Amino acid sequence: DGEMKAWDGPVSEVYSPVCFPTPEGYKRKLIGTYPICTEKEANDALDAAIAAYDNGRGEWPTMSIADRIKCMERFIFKMSEQRTLVVKLLMWEIGKSYGDSAKEFDRTIEYINATIDALKDIDRQSSRFEMAEGLIAQIRRSPLGVVLCMGPFNYPLNETFTTLIPALIMGNTILFKPPKHGTLLHYPLLRAFQESFPKGVVNTVYGRGAVVTPGLMQTGKVNVLAFIGSSKVANDLKKRHPKINRLRAVLSLDAKNAAIVTKNADLQLAVSECILGALSFNGQRCTAIKMIFVHKDVADEFLKLLSEEVSKLKFGLPWDKDVKLTPLPEPNKSELLKEMVDDAIVHGAKVINENGGTSVASFFYPAIVYPVNEKMKLYREEQFGPVIPVIPFESIEEPIEYQIDSPHGMQVSIFSNDAHEISSLIDPFVNLVSRVNINSQCQRGPDVFPFTGRKDSAEGTLSVHDALRSFSIRSLVATKMNETNKQ
Ligand code: G3H
Repeated sequence: DGEMKAWDGPVSEVYSPVCFPTPEGYKRKLIGTYPICTEKEANDALDAAIAAYDNGRGEWPTMSIADRIKCMERFIFKMSEQRTLVVKLLMWEIGKSYGDSAKEFDRTIEYINATIDALKDIDRQSSRFEMAEGLIAQIRRSPLGVVLCMGPFNYPLNETFTTLIPALIMGNTILFKPPKHGTLLHYPLLRAFQESFPKGVVNTVYGRGAVVTPGLMQTGKVNVLAFIGSSKVANDLKKRHPKINRLRAVLSLDAKNAAIVTKNADLQLAVSECILGALSFNGQRCTAIKMIFVHKDVADEFLKLLSEEVSKLKFGLPWDKDVKLTPLPEPNKSELLKEMVDDAIVHGAKVINENGGTSVASFFYPAIVYPVNEKMKLYREEQFGPVIPVIPFESIEEPIEYQIDSPHGMQVSIFSNDAHEISSLIDPFVNLVSRVNINSQCQRGPDVFPFTGRKDSAEGTLSVHDALRSFSIRSLVATKMNETNKQ
């Protein structure tokens, strides 16, 4: 019913990817528990969100934009008070380094502030009137109803909030399920939500996604699905909705972003950007570079530099100084990555860097796999981890054909120092993916840039401004002009 209550039901134990040696081997540390909701409890939370929306007549959807902004500013203040704890939980729960965890928190606060500014722009625009054909219209943006928000484990705070915050501030009511890895860090923020927004406006559902979310969709009462994660889960959830044509979906999904290193590239720059792209947060980003095409004339030199630079990356625990590679939160991830690497070896590739593909506890040492071909799982499947597949190419048609055949269409990175070559490559790629990066890694930010994808990689667009549009509809009040209102 939108209230916080003590929980006496079943709980799920949360184990950190940070392991400790025991006589039986490395063990993940138990760091907390979270409630497991039943389908009924999840549906109660949905009912609370529906009641708070009240067909658009609730306190929140009818509140002025200025007052909604005041609530959000209160939330920012209360959220900021929890920074130390949330950053600590990010490190323990998903193994993200201290620097990246702090960045995730601060980026989220900046995102909320930027969202407020963007909403003020929208508010200013809707105070203008448009006149045409004897009518005077005030055009505004109105909420859509109940939004189910689900974020991914790799940015459990930031990416959850890139949908939750714009959806909320546009006047929708929220049902939100934290990701399996990255649940505890939301606890300190629950009270901040409760103390900043009217009752029933933000509702949290815990538990196993496969148990609670299909039932929520089947009610047909979720108006918007905001999901960041796997394409398979998103499709399954969408299909559950009985009136799919009435469901709006804002999705950011699977990707297999390629880097293309031409023979005219600055190889040192290409290597450092490819490492950032492929291995930041251990490659666990939808925007990670997950395939590298390198021109055969520069392949040897590129691979040598790449191996040297990878060997310099520091492994360690999230709080270690200058750490770049940290433990993987998904318990079976090392085995899955190993299987992909072994499959590539069976089909003729080698791991070319020392220790590549080995694992200890929940660490996985990055594997540079070369030469990759179309028979290998690594060619198409998203590894979402520290494995770098490399393919030599002779003609630029080869990476273009790869992208045409790909089910994904998020981003590519092109590395070249030849302006003519760069401009000849932009057109073939810009209509296949949603962002072409020149001499730079793939990435989502800055957050004012549109973030989306083609094919199976996304639906709808996120960014500070785009997200406000994605979670609202343009509506208007049109009045027939007479002598009085003409003036
Ligand atoms: O995992 C997908 C994220 O959108 C990646 O964001 O490029 O800012 O790391 P990022």
